[in-house]
Order: sequence, then structure tokens, then C-alpha cells
Amino acid sequence: MTRPINPFSPSFGVSPPVLAGRRSALSDFETVFGNARSPSNATLIWGLRGTGKTVLLNAFEDRAAAHGWLTVSSAAAKPSGLLDDIFRKASRCLADFEAEHGRPQRRVVSGFSVGGVGVQTESAPQVGTPPAAQHDLESTLEVLGDALAERGVGLLITIDELHAAPVDEIRQFGSIFQLVSRRPERPIAFAGAALPELEDRLMAGEAATFLQRCHRHEIGNLSISEAEVALRQPVVEAGGQIDDAVLQLAADASGGQPYLIQLVGADMWDECADPVAGIAAEEVERAVARSIEKFGAHVYAPVWRRLSDLDKRFLVAMLDDAGSSAIADIGARWQHSSRSLSRYRQRLLSAGLVTSVGHGRVAFVDDAARSHVARQAAAEGWVESE
Ligand SMILES: Nc1ncnc2c1ncn2[C@@H]1O[C@H](COP(=O)(O)OP(=O)(O)OP(=O)(O)O)[C@@H](O)[C@H]1O
Ligand SMILES: [Mg+2]
Repeated sequence: MTRPINPFSPSFGVSPPVLAGRRSALSDFETVFGNARSPSNATLIWGLRGTGKTVLLNAFEDRAAAHGWLTVSSAAAKPSGLLDDIFRKASRCLADFEAEHGRPQRRVVSGFSVGGVGVQTESAPQVGTPPAAQHDLESTLEVLGDALAERGVGLLITIDELHAAPVDEIRQFGSIFQLVSRRPERPIAFAGAALPELEDRLMAGEAATFLQRCHRHEIGNLSISEAEVALRQPVVEAGGQIDDAVLQLAADASGGQPYLIQLVGADMWDECADPVAGIAAEEVERAVARSIEKFGAHVYAPVWRRLSDLDKRFLVAMLDDAGSSAIADIGARWQHSSRSLSRYRQRLLSAGLVTSVGHGRVAFVDDAARSHVARQAAAEGWVESE
């Protein structure tokens, strides 16, 4: 018999075979389709690397499509600029809509002629055209939103990686979105995703008003029982078997971290001699060791690369303690003004490398973070390698 294909998806941005948990985010978002005044009309998903922000946005888009809504989806790390990208995609949507349903009947005039922007009759502009003026985007969204509303549906705009966007672009997008979505008879919703570092950089600044008004879902690790569902169901659906004790071993090792769940799932499948006969405990143990190493390389390596020397020294000072570290001890070992300790502590908390454990103490978020820091610190000469 041929071996069934590995059912797991250990890749960023690729939807898992089973999207475990996330019920409140999904059910809140569902309210958007029946109520244009739903607070979830503008939603922000918040979470560390690999927690499943992109795949949750994908799930929102799937829900939107199931309700007949159109989606314009963008990611903030666009060289051409965020607004230009959204404008281009919205124009394409409008052109496709017109090709299918004819030109929208109703025209919305917001201080200038919609006909004048040319988006009603032309197909999408070519790459390399100058950035869209604010009015172009605003009027395109209005025309598209009204045309969709006439057919009883709406428009969802998603922006992934919002933390990578220049403040100005977020501010401009926020003001356009607020203008075009303020009328309930024109349902236009927004869902964005960002790393927590957005908070430090933007929430306090001028882009804040729009982002602060968004309905926020902070997503983190799944519960161990959700991790069990995410691991068991794909195995069973692919024709494999795993018994409860072995499943629990795999779920516990993942700690409920969504990306690690997919890595452990994929590796245990590959390690297993015959998944149809059943996955064995030793196979899971071998898989976990491989998965944790990959997790460190894929999740913590990019974080480490972006740290300053002082951030790194802070982390290196933590390695002396087997468990958690007292901030005061780190201060003593850090060789830098202890007045700035709390600022660096905060930076490392939002980078997702450390977590606060009780008053005045921090710890590495997980074993993968500690071992990645230890390895890099030795490789770069921050500590004597053993
Ligand atoms: N709810 C879930 N259940 C099971 N697996 C999940 C879940 N959410 C995400 N995953 C898996 O976790 C991995 C990371 O997901 P995703 O790329 O969405 O994370 P992210 O938060 O967008 O990461 P980044 O911050 O790096 O962009 C993927 O392999 C995905 O399939
Ligand atoms: Mg992502």
C-alpha cells in the first residue's frame, strides 16, 4: 500500500489542515456580515511570530467569500506602497465586477467626480504607475462598496504585517477607511494583523486613533487540548493512527504553539515507519527534537538578527540562571546603565523572546528561545562557548 501524504503544513502563511481554537475571533468576525455596525467591522489581530495571524486572516477571507463578499488583501511590506497596492487591487475588483455585472448603477460623489478618476472603465493600472492619490482610493472603494451593497454583499480589506507599514500609510489608510465605511448601507470591513511591536512603535503615535478603535484579538498559543485536535484530526483523516498517550506527548511538546504543532505533526509523520499502523512514542520523541531546532531557526533567528548589541547582552545575562532571572541580577551582569533596564526588558517582551514571570523576574518564553540564544551567543562571541 502506498504511504499517505503528510497532512501537516509547517509553513508560514499556509493554512493548517485543521484550524484549531480561535473560536471567539471567528465568531466575532462573523457578526460583520449581518451588521455593518458591528464593532468587529475593523478588527486587529495581534500576536507573536508563528501564532497564526496570517492563517486567521485567511480564515476571515474564506468566511467573507462564503457570504459572497469580495476581499482586497494586502500586506504592509510592499515596496510599491500599501495604499497603491490596495488601490490597484480594488480597481481590479471593480473592473472584474463590471465585466460580470455591468457598470454599477449608482454613483457616489464625494466632493469630486467619480467619472474623473477613470477607474470605472479602465482595467487596473500597470505596476510602476505613480502612487494613487488619496481620492482615487477613496472613490474606488466607495464605488465598489456601493456596487457590492446593491447586490446585498460587501467588501473586506485585509492588511497583513501591519507593523511593517510606514506610520504615514497607516494613518492615511485609517482616514480613508473611516470615510468609506461610515455608512451602514455600504458594508466595508477591515481586518489587519501585526506583531506586538506595533504597539511600541505606533499605538502611542498619530496613527493610533484608527488602530486603537479597532476591535483587537490578541492570539497566542493554543491550549493543549486544542493542540491535540490540531494533531489528531489530520492524522486520522489522512488514514493514520495515533493513540492517546502518544498524542499527548506530541501536544505537550508543542506547548500549543501553532507553528510548532505543524512542525511536530509533519516531523512525526515523516519519522514514522508506518503511520497507517500507528505513530510510536519514540518516533514522536525524535520528531520533537528536530522540530524544536527548526522552530528556533525559523522563528527566533530573524528576531535575534534584529536585536541591538544591548538587547543581546541582556539576554546573555539571563543565560546564567537555569530558570527565571531577577531583573536586579541582570542589571548587575549587564554592564550598562541599569536605568534603561526596563526599556530593554519591554523591547524583549514585545520581540517575543522573554516573558514576565512574577514581580521583577523574566524568563525565556520557551526552551527553543533559550537554546537559540545560547547557540547564537556562543557563535558570535558573547559568551565563551563550552
Ligand atoms: N489555529 C491553528 N491551528 C493549527 N495550526 C495553526 C493554527 N494557526 C496557525 N497554524 C500554523 O502555524 C503556522 C504559522 O501560521 P501563520 O503563518 O499564520 O503565523 P503568523 O502569526 O502569521 O506568523 P508571522 O508573524 O511570522 O507572520 C502555520 O504552519 C500554520 O499552518
Ligand atoms: Mg504572518
